[in-house]
Amino acid sequence: MTIDAGIAGFALTRVAPAKINLALHVVGQRADGYHLLESLVTFADAGDRIGFSVSAEDCFTLSGRFSTDLQEADAAGNLVLKARDLLRAYLAERGIQAGPVHLHLEKNLPVASGIGGGSADAAATLLGLLELWGVPVDHSGLEEIALKLGADVPMCLEGRPLIARGIGEDIEPLSEFPSFPMLIVNPRKAVSTPVIFRMLTSKTNPPLVMPPGRRDWIETLKGLRNDLEPPALGLEPEIAAVSRALAETGASFVRMSGSGASCFALFANTDARDAAADILSTRNPSWYVLSCSSIGGKADDHDRN
Ligand code: C5P
Repeated sequence: MTIDAGIAGFALTRVAPAKINLALHVVGQRADGYHLLESLVTFADAGDRIGFSVSAEDCFTLSGRFSTDLQEADAAGNLVLKARDLLRAYLAERGIQAGPVHLHLEKNLPVASGIGGGSADAAATLLGLLELWGVPVDHSGLEEIALKLGADVPMCLEGRPLIARGIGEDIEPLSEFPSFPMLIVNPRKAVSTPVIFRMLTSKTNPPLVMPPGRRDWIETLKGLRNDLEPPALGLEPEIAAVSRALAETGASFVRMSGSGASCFALFANTDARDAAADILSTRNPSWYVLSCSSIGGKADDHDRN
């Protein structure tokens, strides 16, 4: 891996949006140790970016604020390269030869931060390579490859509001889901997802029940939980400081995403969000603060092939 000038000049670029667990209920555990979840998920309109070009030989380059953190991680664990290799193997089994590519990852999202950066990168790599190579893979084939890359990768293929069940692979897209002005804040403390799951004291918590009919979404969210929040707070007390600081800005709603340590806040309008971002960045210069909006769901987006 090399740190590279940037993403300019690639044949194709894709955003790998940050994933936000608006709620995450742990409702059971499989025999293989994976936890059964019911999670209300949305995505930010910001994230990592991936560049794709046909190349004489396979290569991978990196840029972006968090590229150094990724370089320090095991190169074999890089989900962009794993996604490329799995998709290529899947195609080869079907007699399709997929040529060498130059992939570039602009790593804008903090690593191991509960907003699915690695999973989003994997999903965007699969979708981008399908487009670059111009090969047909049906949605169930793609979901199968995605799940091999990680429990959160199938939902990242969707990139829009949804409810995920099972270990994350059973997906119900949500239409008519609002977009919210949003802040994502991370105290720059990496948190290990398996460690947080292991710290859970209860694996069978009440399910995620969505009230029928028209909803006040903020009130609905307040009635739901992130069951990974108590163990994450135990491991990383600064999560409580982030959560408190966000609440003090007058946000409509604050919660931790995934296994942490990132917390998100939803705001009534972009002015309130921008004012909160200014205050938080000034008072806590070491924190990562992403000012964005969550992606809304639309009924007419439902068709897919
Ligand atoms: O699937 P992925 O590699 O992203 O998951 C990382 C780890 O998080 C797993 O090895 C497992 O320990 C834990 N996990 C879990 N139940 C899930 C998803 C992840 O226990 N539904």
